[in-house]
Amino acid sequence: MQSQSDSQRKTFSTIKADSSWSFEGLTRKDTNYLTHSYHRYPAKFIPQLARRLVQENSQKGEWICDPFFGSGSAIVEGLMQERRACGSDVNPLACLITKAKTTPLNRITLRGEISSVLHDLERMPKCLGSGFYGALPEEVLGWFEESTPPQLAYILNRIEEVEDQDILLFFICAFSHILKGCSYWSNESVKPYRQPDKFLNRHVDPVGRFRKHLLMMEERNNELIGSLPQRVALRIEEYRNVQVADARCIDAPKESISLVVTSPPYMVSYEYRDIHGLSLKILKNFFGKIPPRENFIGSISRKLARAYLRSRTANDIVEQLVAKNPGLGMSINSYFFDMQECFLRMRELLRSGGRIAVVIGDTSLRGVPILNAEVFSEILSDEGFQQIRLVKREIPFKSLPTLRDPKSGRFVRIGSSTKLSMAYPHEYILLFEKP
Ligand SMILES: C[S@@+](CC[C@H](N)C(=O)[O-])C[C@H]1O[C@@H](n2cnc3c(N)ncnc32)[C@H](O)[C@@H]1O
Repeated sequence: MQSQSDSQRKTFSTIKADSSWSFEGLTRKDTNYLTHSYHRYPAKFIPQLARRLVQENSQKGEWICDPFFGSGSAIVEGLMQERRACGSDVNPLACLITKAKTTPLNRITLRGEISSVLHDLERMPKCLGSGFYGALPEEVLGWFEESTPPQLAYILNRIEEVEDQDILLFFICAFSHILKGCSYWSNESVKPYRQPDKFLNRHVDPVGRFRKHLLMMEERNNELIGSLPQRVALRIEEYRNVQVADARCIDAPKESISLVVTSPPYMVSYEYRDIHGLSLKILKNFFGKIPPRENFIGSISRKLARAYLRSRTANDIVEQLVAKNPGLGMSINSYFFDMQECFLRMRELLRSGGRIAVVIGDTSLRGVPILNAEVFSEILSDEGFQQIRLVKREIPFKSLPTLRDPKSGRFVRIGSSTKLSMAYPHEYILLFEKP
């Protein structure tokens, strides 16, 4: 007799890609429209994809939830469609970005603050003492050219004088965005990778970068005011509830949510805490405690004891990886277990008839296929969700980093000498319903 997991796998192998979900014609400009361009973030949702899921699976005024909101793409799109939007991310920077992206600011007040800040920055002394590092911690100084940290400290000092908390958030978001560009951090790398020749033929110019980004954000804020439904813009705190929290403990009333829409973290693809290390360390006064790596689902550092997995495919994958590398086997076991716990929490929060849309691709580690989509489908079915639809979508090459080191499973720099494999030429949208 065929088991449930055998039939799931067969189903996945026969699904044809649905081109209406690939959004092939979109340019980077299209996906960076409105406030989506406020801050870089790895593995962002294509906003148009999040929007379509929201439109097709929820109604105006209902709550949608993204338990891994990252830079808040789904939260922005939900609010734009007049939904109420909540969610969690364990990364405090994600919450800061998401709040900044969804807080419409009075254009006249904002103009006044920007003029005042830029006016003061133009008067920045040419020779700042090289020992003037303000709040910049010593551990980050090596990431910058010698003249950069004093200038960054000067900008940060000036920003901190802004009294309006929403406008302060806007400035901090702009400042955080420019940090990597001002540092030796390699532009193409998703890991802390130093590129010592980055500024050989050009100036770092932190103030110039900050000004340019701020002015772009100002334009986008003005567009946001014109695009957000009035009732949402006027009562944003009622419509939005974004928390720095673990997805498994997100705080919301039971059975209050109509749609969960999310792209979860992948196993060992990104170390989110490391990727945002510069911002988290330099802006630590705004964040309070920086969560340890182990709190991030998918981190290689997370190694729970073996636990019961509600998916036969998941158990097979864990066995195979444990045989090749016990440490990695424990990490994948933790990853599947964490996601299982997260889906259980979502089940509690969803109303009857509410839906969950998970956007996820399969990968491979040490030659073992990591069939995330199959595993998640099995777990969701075992937790009592009913499958509504499985969509396979091709990922246009330009929209996501698609190169992966086949041994470690991590995304790698284009041009690196390692033999690379396509990370996910396609991914799946799993659409399930709570009966
Ligand atoms: C693929 S990204 C989401 C990107 C997002 N869809 C966007 O458009 O920006 C996954 C996110 O999961 C977050 N994350 C990892 N572990 C988490 C946990 N235990 N609870 C909540 N969020 C977590 C990461 O910080 C990261 O922001």
